[in-house]
Amino acid sequence: MIEVSSIKGSRIILALDLTDKTNLRSALEAISSLERYICAIKMNFHLILPLSCHELSEINRQVHSYGLQSVADIKLNDIPSTNKIAISHLSRMGFDAVTVNPFIGAVGLRDVVVQAHRLKGGIIALVYMSHVGAPLGFGMNFIDSNKQVTSLYQKFFQDAIECGVDGVVIGANRLEILREICLKKSGIPIYSPGLGKQGGSIKHAAKSGADYFIIGRSIIGSKDPVKTAKRLQHQLSLNNADHL
Ligand code: XMP
Repeated sequence: MIEVSSIKGSRIILALDLTDKTNLRSALEAISSLERYICAIKMNFHLILPLSCHELSEINRQVHSYGLQSVADIKLNDIPSTNKIAISHLSRMGFDAVTVNPFIGAVGLRDVVVQAHRLKGGIIALVYMSHVGAPLGFGMNFIDSNKQVTSLYQKFFQDAIECGVDGVVIGANRLEILREICLKKSGIPIYSPGLGKQGGSIKHAAKSGADYFIIGRSIIGSKDPVKTAKRLQHQLSLNNADHL
């Protein structure tokens, strides 16, 4: 992502969460109007459920023709044989990376990383989600194998490092967690959703260590998506969080 991001001059990943007009044409139109201001497209069940494999492949071809990357945000969370099939289908459709829920455990996580890398793809693992109920799960404490009190997100992050994932997701509205993880200087890129509608601010998330910003409704649902995307990209391109 780092290469694409520097070529495109953007750290914005567009969450292509179309609601009213969920069809191939509207997806292609949205991408072609916004491609200059973003580095990747993220598709989740908004598109992956209603569209066919053929249509998703066509979207990914267009995404790549603009020099962008494509992320399948399905938060994969199943047994190894099912995860394997899901990753190979998504790779065939042209997705460059898949989001995974580390709740599957370190063995399962390592398996998906190996599988994705074999197919020249990447794995982005959840560490701490942005939604309201996230602390109940990701923030839960447990006694680890060394008899230490640990939070689930800390275990997820540790597993992510050890399994060689390509990125982690931490909500843009989880500033303390962002700072804590950033201090570990792991070098793993941090992807942050949860901006705007979910309360996070680009300025604070950037200052706290977020590398890429996953933005959906603030762009797609705005009166003028192109203008909004351009403004957000400009803010981020200043590259110094103090200017944001
Ligand atoms: P909005 O409209 O809130 O869209 O800008 C955010 C997008 O990101 C997804 N999302 C998440 N994905 N971990 C994830 O992997 C999260 O914590 C998270 N929070 C939001 C959401 O599905 C939407 O596409």
